[in-house]
Amino acid sequence: MDIKEIQLAIDNELKVCREDILNVADQSSLNDFKGLHLGKKSLCSSLFSKMRDVPSESKQLVGKMVVDLRQKITDIFNAKENELKQVALEKQLQKDKVDISLPGYSHKLGSKHPFYAVVDDITDFFIGLGYEVADGPEVETDYNNFEMMNIPKDHPSRDMQDSFSITDELVLRSHTSAVQARVMAKCKGVGPIKIICPGKVYRRDNDATHSHQFGQIEGLVISESATFANLLETLTLLLKHLFGEKRKVRFRPSYFPFTEPSIEADISCFECGGKGCKFCKNTGYIEILGAGMVHPNVLRLNGFDDTKYQGFAFGIGIDRVAMLKYNIDDIKRFYTNDVRFISEFFKE
Ligand code: PHE
Repeated sequence: MDIKEIQLAIDNELKVCREDILNVADQSSLNDFKGLHLGKKSLCSSLFSKMRDVPSESKQLVGKMVVDLRQKITDIFNAKENELKQVALEKQLQKDKVDISLPGYSHKLGSKHPFYAVVDDITDFFIGLGYEVADGPEVETDYNNFEMMNIPKDHPSRDMQDSFSITDELVLRSHTSAVQARVMAKCKGVGPIKIICPGKVYRRDNDATHSHQFGQIEGLVISESATFANLLETLTLLLKHLFGEKRKVRFRPSYFPFTEPSIEADISCFECGGKGCKFCKNTGYIEILGAGMVHPNVLRLNGFDDTKYQGFAFGIGIDRVAMLKYNIDDIKRFYTNDVRFISEFFKE
């Protein structure tokens, strides 16, 4: 072949390529095209293999013509390949299209349980006053639950809390005061301590306002200067925060083995505003929490020097607060898990 013939063959091959590519509509015909025009039996390959017969003075020129041809065919191939990819992508996008005019799925939003709404509220309140949150187990030793709280074995004051025993030495804790013993043991006689502890407690109780399981939030402050006045101020602030500024707060003397003096706090009745009614048993007030100055025996038993340290403690019933705040008639509603009850609260 002389150069002219080669040029003719190349021009023809390009013409055929341009026609053939118009008929390529999918990947398999594109592969056929590649085999035909760039494969082993293509004109390009046969021209390359014939290069050694080309006279040496023309070799460079012919070589360039063949390389150009291969590049042009490759360009035609690549352009088609991209076009096919684009078409495939468009198709896929069309298929995956989301019709945003369709109504969406609606999800039922949960809401906070009234019990935990009270826990969170009281916890936030005390964190604001600089308290830390402590924790303890619900299966507690008799030692922490009673003995360290100045309630020795066989002492009549144990009758105040009818508890569930697991063994002679283990009980379901009957009050969060057991956590006082744990915190004091950790501090090894060195104050100050300023904690609250929310948690579940257990007693053998059963009526509309009492249950075998209920929640308490314990508070304990021990320092060299914590006073009875500080306790009254703290509890007054808390009760007004929980029930509103207008509610009257009243303190009565009481008895707990682990505090001396001991008090109970009442708030004026929601139903009658203090005049006396069935709800408040004609007293005008509703009992809400127990508190007092930490008994010197408790300080000593738990490794604190009672001539240096003093403090106060309090215990609030969580369910009781929630029942009063949200007007709930039966304490068992907190854990019988009736969705209709829970969804009554904190509607969006
Ligand atoms: N632990 C007491 C109870 O459960 C409440 C309380 C706590 C009283 C702390 C005084 C101080 O009845």
